[in-house]
Amino acid sequence: MKKILRTAALALAGALALTALSGCSGGASASGVQIIRIGHNQSTNHPTHTGLLAFEEYIEGELGDKYDIQIFPSELLGSQNEMVQLTQTGAITFCVASNSLLETFSDNYTLFNLPYLFASPEAYHASMDDPNIVGPIFESTMQAGFEAVTWLDAGTRNFYTINTPIETPEDLRGLKIRVQQSPTNVRMMELLGGSATPMGFGDVYTALQSQMLDGAENNELALTDNGHGDICKYYSYTMHQMIPDILIGNLDFMKGLSEEERAIFDEGFQILNQTQRDAWETAVEEAKEKAENEQGVNFSYPDITPFQEAVAPMHQEMLEDYPDLAPIYELIQEHNAEYPADSQ
Ligand code: GCU
Repeated sequence: MKKILRTAALALAGALALTALSGCSGGASASGVQIIRIGHNQSTNHPTHTGLLAFEEYIEGELGDKYDIQIFPSELLGSQNEMVQLTQTGAITFCVASNSLLETFSDNYTLFNLPYLFASPEAYHASMDDPNIVGPIFESTMQAGFEAVTWLDAGTRNFYTINTPIETPEDLRGLKIRVQQSPTNVRMMELLGGSATPMGFGDVYTALQSQMLDGAENNELALTDNGHGDICKYYSYTMHQMIPDILIGNLDFMKGLSEEERAIFDEGFQILNQTQRDAWETAVEEAKEKAENEQGVNFSYPDITPFQEAVAPMHQEMLEDYPDLAPIYELIQEHNAEYPADSQ
């Protein structure tokens, strides 16, 4: 079934790419209403989908005579990497991409991918809500043809494995662990001693099932929503990253909006952000309960100090490679001081 869906999706993505090449991006229907396609890689149960439905309702309520929002979940328009490219060309208008992937489009995004960057979820939220922090980063992909318009919560990333729990970095030695496709994630695994296997999110389930992988790392929803907890029975709270998802919009589309329309879209992005965040905590609690009780996943809480120590050099490396990011890194430290780890 998944294969059929994916084949149909690829055909659709191919058709969309051709549409963009022929210069008819956006897709106006016979009634003159412009179709806005938004792609994401989560299921329809996921807070991101719920948030996008609220966005759709608001925009169509305000501008329904002009825009028809269509949401494509579950990688129907392709993998996140493919969707970012479709958004760049204008074949689709928006997509949700993990901050991890955006690192290959602008170095500035490297910052939010750093392990143990944020001291607590509160510090992470405060940083992502701080325009002095996200502003310069979000603007940096304009040269790549898209604009980052809001962020979405993707929780805390932790390791989960098929056969043995991860209690210390030594437990990762020799294990093939799926990571997102970004140099920062590969470097992180190198320092932790595991073998990094970068691949797209949609391919992880099959790779785990065929034991091509020993494990992966993600938030709790991957266990239930994506079925990884059917295969991986050990989930260890290493809390190594809090990587936001980002809604990106095609730059030509964004620039083509009138001032009034832009204000309405900005309000819509706020509604999306708030709705998604409001749904996040409950979704995590439900996922944890289901994983524990129905899938038989064991949750453990190792001492994270050795993990933090192993990857600590990455902070200095990043500051040396991208000195322009230092002031933003410092602003994050202020939020970390305000919301330290024990503030949770
Ligand atoms: C999370 C995140 C996704 C990302 C996925 C991954 O689910 O929300 O945007 O694609 O992790 O690990 O690839």
